[in-house]
Amino acid sequence: MVKAKRFILAKQFDGFPKDSDIQLVEVELPEIKDGEFLCEAVYLSVDPYMRAFSFSLKEGDVMYGQQVAKVIQTKNADYPVGTYVITEVIGLGWRSHFVSSEGVVTKLDHPEEIPLSQAMGVLGMVGMTAYFGFVDICQPKEGETVVVNGAAGAVGSLVGQIAKIKGCRVVGFAGSDDKVKYLKSLGFDEAFNYKTIDLDETLKKAAPNGVDIYFDNVGGKFSSIVRNHVNKYGRISQCGFISQYNLKEPDMLPCFDSVMVFKEIKCQGFLAESFSDRYPEGKKFMAEWYLKGKLKLDEHITEGFENMKKAFFELFTGANTGKALVKV
Ligand SMILES: NC(=O)c1ccc[n+]([C@@H]2O[C@H](COP(=O)([O-])OP(=O)(O)OC[C@H]3O[C@@H](n4cnc5c(N)ncnc54)[C@H](OP(=O)(O)O)[C@@H]3O)[C@@H](O)[C@H]2O)c1
Repeated sequence: MVKAKRFILAKQFDGFPKDSDIQLVEVELPEIKDGEFLCEAVYLSVDPYMRAFSFSLKEGDVMYGQQVAKVIQTKNADYPVGTYVITEVIGLGWRSHFVSSEGVVTKLDHPEEIPLSQAMGVLGMVGMTAYFGFVDICQPKEGETVVVNGAAGAVGSLVGQIAKIKGCRVVGFAGSDDKVKYLKSLGFDEAFNYKTIDLDETLKKAAPNGVDIYFDNVGGKFSSIVRNHVNKYGRISQCGFISQYNLKEPDMLPCFDSVMVFKEIKCQGFLAESFSDRYPEGKKFMAEWYLKGKLKLDEHITEGFENMKKAFFELFTGANTGKALVKV
């Protein structure tokens, strides 16, 4: 018998997630049957959607999340001990161990020369979000000015680097001076700590000819200012709105209608999953750029399954640079 640890939603979040909202429980897993295999978590992804989609969880449900796990017992010849598997993005969630029949589990197809953890990074959901959310939705052209916020995070840092690969001028915003230095090291043309600047004045100087593409991870007040700097025929990729996830009431913001119409701006929200039939294309480009050293994705690794909560809460205090992961 294997004892599995799980984190469940004990109480629906109300504002910023609290320690008591998520509870660690232990369950005894049944012996595996013919055709089944038992997996142990290796890396668990930590993502803002765990808060954004939490409304669809019931109290007592296991917290959403994706993980790379290893087969440790098997009665399935196709999944020998040692096989790496990956769960779905909103799948088995925060579990230390699980039996294959508990959810959708896929054999991991991952290039040997790329670290395993990047299966949930450059080649994972965040990589695909950056690739399709930027390349497909924004249709970047050489010389265009791109603004990206949440720029030192997983999606944002990849978007900025892809924009450079596409020959764009990139202006990034992140929440600390260290993150600003990091963005410069990644090749961002301009980078600013949004907590210490006047955004409107900064954009006048950093994007004097206006913004052609705005890749928005943050939403709220930040967006209401950037939108006024978007050029005619500009594109906005609405990827996330993390500034609003923990608010009890969303920000009430100035109306954007006239800017949209007169400047003929295209604004598209999206979910990466909608591009899943094209992931092989996205993975091909991301793997190629990664292996050629044209882009990188730093990892913010928290050690120990028990520290899932801490890693999750830290997303909202900006502790992470790059992809947040828990290593078991
Ligand atoms: N549409 C999709 O399919 C899809 C898929 C993946 C992710 N997303 C979205 O993309 C965004 C980035 O996700 P990620 O996984 O790459 O996370 P991430 O950027 O690695 O981590 C979150 C970062 O958000 C920033 N942040 C937190 N609270 C904030 C606030 N109130 N205002 C401004 N910034 C805040 C923090 O950085 P600072 O220090 O800079 O504040 C933090 O490090 C999120 O909005 C997420 O929901 C969307």
